[in-house]
Amino acid sequence: MDISSILQGGYQHPLSRSWQGRRQLTKSMFMYPIFITDDPDASVVIPSLPGQRRWGVNQLETFLGPLVKKGLKSVIIFGVPLTCEKTLQDGRGTPADDPSGPVIQAIKKIRLLFPSLYIACDVCLCEYTSHGHCGLLHADSTINTKPSVLRLAEVSVNYAKAGAHCVAPSDMMDGRIKAIKQALIDADLASKCTLMSYSAKFASALYGPFRDAAGSAPSFGDRKCYQLPPTAKGLARRAIQRDMVEGADIIMVKPALPYLDIISDATQLASDHPIACYQVSGEFAMVHAGAAAGVYDLKTMAFETTESMVRAGATLILSYFTPDFLDWLEV
Ligand code: PBG
Ligand code: ZN
Repeated sequence: MDISSILQGGYQHPLSRSWQGRRQLTKSMFMYPIFITDDPDASVVIPSLPGQRRWGVNQLETFLGPLVKKGLKSVIIFGVPLTCEKTLQDGRGTPADDPSGPVIQAIKKIRLLFPSLYIACDVCLCEYTSHGHCGLLHADSTINTKPSVLRLAEVSVNYAKAGAHCVAPSDMMDGRIKAIKQALIDADLASKCTLMSYSAKFASALYGPFRDAAGSAPSFGDRKCYQLPPTAKGLARRAIQRDMVEGADIIMVKPALPYLDIISDATQLASDHPIACYQVSGEFAMVHAGAAAGVYDLKTMAFETTESMVRAGATLILSYFTPDFLDWLEV
């Protein structure tokens, strides 16, 4: 046997195994997606997302306190207007930045309760519009890009004003990164707020549990005219490059596991940006379902999936497994 044919000497010990990764999973790599609803006392189980709930602002202290103690560093807030009058869910998503609505209230409460916790806010209109699409529509139900982008910029500025450390538009309207960055600059908030773009967001079948949780399924049609086709490597690369030029501070790929090649491409194209990926609701539910069916051990698979994302180049992982990793990881 040739001397160079022996590889196993390099990974015979747990410590030498850990050195084989360029980077290790750490607690600070995880951002926890949380659903905040407008009943302030809510603590409602979401059946399709194991272990996750819709929370009211009065529950944030008991919900997040123990996690912050265990090392939780960041959350991303999704607003779920449930008790608000359906009539308020209009064509322009008015409840999105209602000062008394769940997102603005949650930002303020979390800033007070946990001053060191980093708060990102998802920015989209689908949870708040009567039609459930991510932008504003023309009379013929196609996306009306210009007012959509202006409205998203307005919502972003209002989240930043309320104290969000990061705004993360997930709508996929063309030109929204530039419009949001410009609006943050005009409001003198650009240096106080990170702009994380869902740049390569694919029209995936893996968003189902989220749409249950957030009540954001479109009332007609689908999102294929604004989210990317799963085959579209070229469009994903162009979207990443466009968003860098338009002023994104962080580039995100979503979903994560079926799109590791795109994460890897993003690290090449945006080599000077942090690269985020979103292990979405369907990926999380799939890992749980497989474990429940006896296909694999839950913790082992949670590690394998997220370590794959780190290997592909992700520096930040949005995941519903975040509370578990706070127990599983030492740092
Ligand atoms: C809405 C939005 C979605 C997710 C994040 N923001 C769903 C969608 O685009 O249909 C998915 C998150 C998940 O599945 O965990 N703009
Ligand atoms: Zn949306």
